[in-house]
Amino acid sequence: MAQNVPSKEHFQQAYDGSAPWDIGKPQPVFVEAAEQITGRLLDVGCGTGENSLFFAERGHQTTGIDFLEHPIALAKRKALQRGLPAAFRVMDALRVDELGDVFDSAIDCGLFHVFSDPDRARYVDALARVVKPGGRLFLICFSDLEPPGDGPRRISQDEIHTAFADDWQVESIRQARFETRRDPQQSPFSEGGPLAWFCVIGRSAG
Ligand SMILES: C[S@@+](CC[C@H](N)C(=O)[O-])C[C@H]1O[C@@H](n2cnc3c(N)ncnc32)[C@H](O)[C@@H]1O
Repeated sequence: MAQNVPSKEHFQQAYDGSAPWDIGKPQPVFVEAAEQITGRLLDVGCGTGENSLFFAERGHQTTGIDFLEHPIALAKRKALQRGLPAAFRVMDALRVDELGDVFDSAIDCGLFHVFSDPDRARYVDALARVVKPGGRLFLICFSDLEPPGDGPRRISQDEIHTAFADDWQVESIRQARFETRRDPQQSPFSEGGPLAWFCVIGRSAG
């Protein structure tokens, strides 16, 4: 079951170099979906904060969390340099319910697919406590259409439906791609970027 479930050290080492997902701008899928994303926003597993900062610039009150200090320090520095009021905190997403805050929307850009099955269930439960009933989660994860190999777990649509069966309603799942900073000639992933699912998941009211 440990297959493709990366450790904290894996992420630490990735940020010591150039993490392939850290593209220095928001993921295109969130730019495309920006009009759908409303209100106070939580960015779970925010890394160095480009998605959070994109939404802060659009006027959202934004909080990003990540369990590593280094990317959070970089995100805070970018917020200062850009004059954006985004908040960033070091925190484990499995305990995000301890934030003591609630949000209209949440984004998950590449976090859901890192968890083992038991941690996935804990994560979804914790998130349900911080997204308001009637709010929405916007999530992009590796898809099972991406051939096996490097990178995180591949996720099927059935797994997404199962993970969000309680407290949530899966509204839509569509095919998308992650943009990475890998040289296309040397990328171990599909041409055009790793195949992904982009999901809109509503927090059930009541
Ligand atoms: C694939 S990266 C994506 C980062 C960012 N969302 C982006 O798009 O650039 C996944 C991120 O999740 C963070 N992460 C992994 N497990 C976590 C956990 N249990 N709690 C909080 N952050 C976690 C990692 O440190 C990493 O920054």
